[in-house]
Amino acid sequence: MKFTISSVLSAAASAILLTLSAVPATALPTSNAPSASLEKRAVDGLNNFGCKLTAEHPRPVIMVHGTVLNIDSWSTFAPVLIKQGYCVFALTYGKYKNTPIMGGLAPIEDSAQELSDFANNILERMNVTQVDIVGHSQGGILARYWIKYLDGAGKVYRHVGISAINHGTTLSGITVFAKALGIFTPSQPLFDAIAPSLFQMVDTSEFMAKLNAGGDTAPGVIHSNIVTKYDEIVTPYENCYQNGPNVVNALLQKNCMLSLNEHLTMVNSKVVLQFVLNQLDPSTAKTANCLSML
Ligand SMILES: *[C@@H]1O[C@H](CO)[C@@H](O)[C@H](O)[C@H]1NC(C)=O
Repeated sequence: MKFTISSVLSAAASAILLTLSAVPATALPTSNAPSASLEKRAVDGLNNFGCKLTAEHPRPVIMVHGTVLNIDSWSTFAPVLIKQGYCVFALTYGKYKNTPIMGGLAPIEDSAQELSDFANNILERMNVTQVDIVGHSQGGILARYWIKYLDGAGKVYRHVGISAINHGTTLSGITVFAKALGIFTPSQPLFDAIAPSLFQMVDTSEFMAKLNAGGDTAPGVIHSNIVTKYDEIVTPYENCYQNGPNVVNALLQKNCMLSLNEHLTMVNSKVVLQFVLNQLDPSTAKTANCLSML
């Protein structure tokens, strides 16, 4: 599936505005009920508790989408992982009532709790103690919060961030969302009423200070990040990197100079997909062919 940032954000904007006009702000906290229609039309083989874990792929892989996005973010990557024999799970988190197509809007702590519930159910039903996590954008920090502040310690083996908003963004990143909403300058009171996650992602927020307090990485977790220099949402793009032991930080354009991927298209890039596969199973790592896979 191809989409542009403007098409995604204008869909997001209309949905946010719809919500804003339809629901009083005070009634907005998220509904945890999955949107049946959306989760159903997701990729074949996703969220299959009958999937058999193997010696090659011993842990379930949980894929966590980004802000204003949903489970459909994985329509390119998930089928490939499933075909390679991974047991792949994904959710749409942080939804507001009446906006089932958009997640990642709720307070980030609440979304991390949703991930915790989702992951704990998988651990129990798949009878394992650890998962691997692949997260895009805000989806690349939920597991970090889960590990540090909820009950996730020891439950994540590998963590792969795709343009993960590890150190937040300057206001210019938030302005992308604001413009899509027809607001020229980001308005915190407005955004806090309809999408509290947005201002939590500002680099100077209390949330970001808490997320990174005591270090960017979690003990025992093998972290990796892939980042694009054309990221228009996480600015500067270096804010996607993590510092610490056990981290691989990769810049997409370091290997593939011509890649023009920006924040949203990262989850459709075959080069990024190859990075994810290499991180999940380094024993079968391959070099991505930049020329055939921009
Ligand atoms: C769960 O895993 C443990 C340890 O690998 C095993 O001993 C046990 O039989 C498993 N339980 C089920 C229900 O498969």
